[in-house]
Amino acid sequence: MTINDNLSRRDFIKRGSTTAAAAAGLAVIGAPAVLRGQNLNSRINVGVIGTGSRGCYLIRLLKGIPGITVTDVCDIYPPHLEAGENDSGNEQVRGHEQWEKVIEQKDVDAVVVSPPLFLHVPCSVAALEAGKHVYSEKSMGLTVEQLNRMKATVEQHPALVYLVGYQSRMMESFAQAKELVRNNSFGEITQFYAHYDRNTTWRKEIEDPKWERVLNWRMYREYCGGILTELLTHNIDMLLDILGTMPVNASCQGKIRVYNDGRENHDSLMGYLEMENGVLGTVSGQLANSRWGSGWAIHGTYGTIEYMDSGFRIFWEKETRHLQQIGLKHKFNRIKLGQSLNISNAPLTEPDKIVDFRDSTENASRKALEHFVACVRNGDKPVMDMESARLTSIAALMLYTSSLDNGRSVSVEEITG
Ligand SMILES: NC(=O)c1ccc[n+]([C@@H]2O[C@H](COP(=O)([O-])OP(=O)(O)OC[C@H]3O[C@@H](n4cnc5c(N)ncnc54)[C@H](O)[C@@H]3O)[C@@H](O)[C@H]2O)c1
Repeated sequence: MTINDNLSRRDFIKRGSTTAAAAAGLAVIGAPAVLRGQNLNSRINVGVIGTGSRGCYLIRLLKGIPGITVTDVCDIYPPHLEAGENDSGNEQVRGHEQWEKVIEQKDVDAVVVSPPLFLHVPCSVAALEAGKHVYSEKSMGLTVEQLNRMKATVEQHPALVYLVGYQSRMMESFAQAKELVRNNSFGEITQFYAHYDRNTTWRKEIEDPKWERVLNWRMYREYCGGILTELLTHNIDMLLDILGTMPVNASCQGKIRVYNDGRENHDSLMGYLEMENGVLGTVSGQLANSRWGSGWAIHGTYGTIEYMDSGFRIFWEKETRHLQQIGLKHKFNRIKLGQSLNISNAPLTEPDKIVDFRDSTENASRKALEHFVACVRNGDKPVMDMESARLTSIAALMLYTSSLDNGRSVSVEEITG
């Protein structure tokens, strides 16, 4: 990606990790079996913790990556453990009910962490400390204490890869959207909207109540932050990465509007973010109407980019002469798409042009896993690294904290201390 990073940022919320440099010289407690960047052709043994719907999906994708063997799977719910064993395609696969057992295996090089959110940091920290590379599902962590612990551990193990599975950042359409925004194609950014709407209860029918909280973990605050950490986090992550800024204040109202079934996490919410550079944004999500699906929009003085289902549409403002009168500079960036605009019909000459771009049906999750494997083998720095994933979690935590306190305005300092 060739992105010009021309936005000012605060030091304490700097995007883009300096982790490796900062941590250079610190002791590496666990020694990785596959040394990052030094085993270009070696096989990589992978253990997968949490073989529910996502874990099994990732196992099936892992099987298609050359040189990968899923040697260990773990789940405390026996039917899901069995599904993971079957999906591994490995007759010698070792099944475990305790996640610590995966990490104890000396021949496991990398661990995929895909149980409920509250376990992401405990599993990832233990894996890094045992010398394993880690692909953690999103979000990074549930509390700021967890985020701090994760940061410290990643910094202590610069030789190991730690990547958070925000797979949308691997999409070509996302890279192009980011480049267009960063190159000022839409002029001065004023506002953004992010939404993630579904029509699902999230509730699984459970025969034996002892599995209620294990399988319906999304309902309960002990295990995750509901819509914010499970759904909207994807769009918040993309927006923070594109805009290169962080919120300074957040407020969010959450309600249980439809599913009064004993759950604690809201099924409807609407929030507001004030970014450090003055850009204002709204975020919303719900579980009872899927009309708007998952997407976001960024509005600038010269145009708008709307991102939905891995494609985007661009709308130019019809009238922009008033902006030239007040001296607002605008640089149109050539769009590198199949349906490219020529520079000759850039917004100033044809301002109401719409560009509609669907990405290929490439599998972003497969690309994220391939990227992880490439980082392990070649020593590349993960795109979805600890620093950027941590910022996404901090923004989600600001909104979540506010939603639990009737929409009170929550500052970034309140969350980060
Ligand atoms: N990146 C994405 O687009 C994406 C999509 C879906 C889910 N996810 C993430 O993947 C994770 C799992 O989601 P899911 O949809 O597979 O949920 P799920 O409920 O289907 O699977 C979670 C599994 O974890 C198991 N588990 C619970 N406690 C455990 C423990 N102590 N040890 C071992 N296993 C334990 C459960 O039994 C269950 O099988 C979540 O963090 C979720 O946010 C990411």
